[in-house]
Amino acid sequence: MNFQLTEEQQMIQKTVRDFAKQVVAPTAAERDHEERFDREIFEKMAELGLTGLPWSEKYGGADSGYVSYVLAIEELSRVCASTGVTLSAHLSLASWPIHHFGNEEQKQKYLKPLAEGKYLGAFALTEAGAGSDVASMKTTAKEDGDDYILNGSKIFITNGGEADVYIAFAKTASDENHKSISAFIVESGYEGFHAGKKEEKLGVRSSPTTEVMFENCRVPKENRLGNSGEGFKIAMKTLDGGRNGIAAQAVGIAQGALDAAVDYAKERKQFGKPIAHHQGISFKLADMAAKIEAARLLTYQAAWLEEHGEPYGHASALSKLYAGDAAMDVTTEAVQVFGGYGYTREYPVERYMRDAKITQIYEGTNEIQKIVISKGLLSGK
Ligand code: CAA
Repeated sequence: MNFQLTEEQQMIQKTVRDFAKQVVAPTAAERDHEERFDREIFEKMAELGLTGLPWSEKYGGADSGYVSYVLAIEELSRVCASTGVTLSAHLSLASWPIHHFGNEEQKQKYLKPLAEGKYLGAFALTEAGAGSDVASMKTTAKEDGDDYILNGSKIFITNGGEADVYIAFAKTASDENHKSISAFIVESGYEGFHAGKKEEKLGVRSSPTTEVMFENCRVPKENRLGNSGEGFKIAMKTLDGGRNGIAAQAVGIAQGALDAAVDYAKERKQFGKPIAHHQGISFKLADMAAKIEAARLLTYQAAWLEEHGEPYGHASALSKLYAGDAAMDVTTEAVQVFGGYGYTREYPVERYMRDAKITQIYEGTNEIQKIVISKGLLSGK
């Protein structure tokens, strides 16, 4: 067992940490307040090679693997969870399924520009009536000559309205079960594609979340991803890895909150000494650190398993479940360490606490992770 990051992984971690501090952090609070997405930050991430981090050079990537990917998401989220999820959705939800299920032509046409940051990607699965219950989706895709015609609408789409390419799921047959779902690569410029209402959210406010609509949207047959009827499995396999990206985001948020709490506890004096010297506070900091480290190890382990071609769905569900809960606990305690000041926008911990909440919800609520984990346990896998 080796817990040491490789030289390359350490280098990527340091590069992203510096980038996060210098480029992302200075505007994080302001972008959160204004609910403003900054495409320039995405373009700068592309210049650093982050937008194609795990993919091979053949597809415009940096060939750096999944451990480097989670390190990058963690470092970005440590200063700005919105930037973390922008990259996580782009890489693990939009690019990953093309990398794994796309044919060579689709990889050249879409994966490469996604990796190079010329395109921003998104994943359009959830519908108003089909959240946790994916198979109950209503969006349809009907064959018409060389095309499919998509009709329906999706909600809560991360990078919605800003993305150039969407991995969209629709029913290609009328049966109610999951076997009727297929996956498509949809360009934002296709006729009949519209981005709708932008959500006003509690957290990750500079990451746009919108509705997307398909109104007789014509998608060429060559843009179907995988086989007809394979969409549900594509979505599930995509989420297996995506969930670990959210775990990494949660670890980053929690670490950012702990960093702030430690600094503040050393500086703030009450009863004649820094509050860090009161056990009520120092024990909180210790508990926070323990939770973060456990979440981090689960997250790195799941990434390592994926990188080494081992099954990782169970490990990702564990990491997302634990890290999401840890982020919520740690950020709530960070606000407590700051007392009244923590409740104001003068300090970043209230933002971390608002951002942490979504990590328990998106890419499968933590209750869904428990279904995935317990199904695995009970089936003996
Ligand atoms: N990999 C491969 N196949 C899988 C799989 C996986 N991880 N999970 C399930 N399957 C297969 C099953 O083996 C089964 O196959 P067969 O029919 O051949 O036997 C089939 O899929 C159906 O499986 P289930 O009966 O378990 O399916 P279900 O309908 O009961 O659903 C679920 C299972 C775990 C609840 C699933 O629906 C689920 O994960 N729901 C949560 C959805 C979710 O995570 N949404 C997030 C939206 S994206 C988002 O949030 C993005 C964002 O913007 C940041």
